[in-house]
Amino acid sequence: MARIAYVNGRYQPIHRPAVPVEDRGYQFADGVYEVMKVVGGEPRDLDRHMRRLRRSLDGLGIRMPMSPPALEAVIRETLRRNRLKEAVVYLQVSRGAAPRNHLYAATLKPSLVVTVRRAGLPSAKEWAEGVAVVSLPDERWARRDIKSISLLPNSLARQKAKDRGAREAFLVDGDGCVTEASASNAWIVDRNGTLVTHPLGHGILGGITRERVLEEARAAGIPVEERRFTLDEAKAAREAFLTSTSSFVLPVVRIDDAPIGNGHPGETTRRLQGLYAEAAGLHPRFHQGT
Ligand code: PDD
Repeated sequence: MARIAYVNGRYQPIHRPAVPVEDRGYQFADGVYEVMKVVGGEPRDLDRHMRRLRRSLDGLGIRMPMSPPALEAVIRETLRRNRLKEAVVYLQVSRGAAPRNHLYAATLKPSLVVTVRRAGLPSAKEWAEGVAVVSLPDERWARRDIKSISLLPNSLARQKAKDRGAREAFLVDGDGCVTEASASNAWIVDRNGTLVTHPLGHGILGGITRERVLEEARAAGIPVEERRFTLDEAKAAREAFLTSTSSFVLPVVRIDDAPIGNGHPGETTRRLQGLYAEAAGLHPRFHQGT
């Protein structure tokens, strides 16, 4: 069965041409997106994703293409038509189509595309044994809090990481601090046993998983600090991990050539893997070993 996409009011096979050549998303990367997971047919944290979508759109001065309840109905219908219950939803809004010009009119009609696919989840090995990351310079723009479709630096970094045999790239700013990873948030457990992640602001994407993990950690009495940390501190940390909608809480056991802790997923990471898996209603295989 061909996958069905929602494109500006129509449900159609995903490979059928649909978006105008002069869509500003295509010409200028002028748009934003969201990625949500679906477990047992239920989109998770829909309200949080909708709030972040609105913040991203506000940041670029693009109108919401439709109300959140209408968007939810489109998401559910796209899932139904694709007969998917365990999935990842990709939702993209661009400013709309207009003759190519850097300048744009406030009256443009935003373009909305929704696709769904089976989730590419962490393998049992990655989940149990952790992954390697490499460090790379953070070459993105200064508004990383906006979930912009302008993902070229993220994509290049992720590819470089893969070419070097790593799962992800820790992105390092001009001060030597790790901001986040190319498609996930970065965390360490420092020498004092405190859970540390970069503070919110323009420097990182405020991950929904990050928000959830912070809540779980605080509720479990794990000491937490939202502060910047350097690459050197990360390499010397007791533990490290990544968070994102589709990789959940993924242990990091090597940064460049440095093993983290004893080279195996740490105790706090394990605990948070379990707490998050339970809270998000993930498949039992993600509760095991934690
Ligand atoms: N990536 N930081 C960046 C740069 C990201 O692209 C993502 C998500 C995150 C984690 O956010 P969340 O927990 O809300 O997924 C952090 C998505 C999954 C993607 O681009 O596919």
